[in-house]
Amino acid sequence: MINGKEKLIVAIDTDEFDKAKNLIDTLEDSVDIFKVGLEQYVATRGKTIDYLHEKGKKIFLDLKFHDIPNTMQSAVRAAVRDRVWLMTIHVSDINGMKECAKAAKEEAEKLGIDKPIIVGVTVLTSLSNDDLKDIGCDLTTEELAVKRAKLAKEAGIDGIVCSAMEVSKIVDACGEDFVKVCPGIRPLNKEVGDQKRVVTPADAIRNGASYLVVGRPITKATNPKQAAIDIVKEIENA
Ligand code: C5P
Repeated sequence: MINGKEKLIVAIDTDEFDKAKNLIDTLEDSVDIFKVGLEQYVATRGKTIDYLHEKGKKIFLDLKFHDIPNTMQSAVRAAVRDRVWLMTIHVSDINGMKECAKAAKEEAEKLGIDKPIIVGVTVLTSLSNDDLKDIGCDLTTEELAVKRAKLAKEAGIDGIVCSAMEVSKIVDACGEDFVKVCPGIRPLNKEVGDQKRVVTPADAIRNGASYLVVGRPITKATNPKQAAIDIVKEIENA
């Protein structure tokens, strides 16, 4: 049977350390992996990472690096030194991604630790086909996500971030072992907010997602702990 706690990543999207700490304390028995994103990282200058280490939690550093290859690989090295378990870059030119993969491996070997899993963002789950047209791309979100996933695989990074709507196509194109991290998860009848390509936890798992990233359905719930427990159960019963 699937262990739901190994699949669920909770996004601590708040700009205050105390709020993040409260959430981590509330969820510590039901959640093993926490995501520190831009809002939290910039506001607390990484303090939450230290707190999560103290608590023995796995850290997903979601800063979605997108820059020239030299800057990207150096930032990846710094993230390795912060001992994160999973991290994001954007799927962009193949050389930049290759350099990131190489830098993570080298830095982790130097420190004698496990290399973080590096995943590339394919197409943000808040984007629709029309949004892509607006920025000059005539592919659909699914076509672009699959194309970028193949490029990420060719570059040697470990996986991608995509909507659970396109995950089965990416399993077909890149194989089951290629890591698929899926945000835009909404249990039935929960508010969608700014997300446009949403899927329920059970469907995401059935479609082949490796990890589910859930923010507001847990963090804004009246009882966040119960919301997390319910999602873990839904994953296990998928
Ligand atoms: O609150 P919600 O469940 O929509 O949060 C989803 C989280 O996943 C956010 O922290 C967002 O930054 C992140 N994310 C996303 N789409 C991507 C990559 C990351 O929504 N493609």
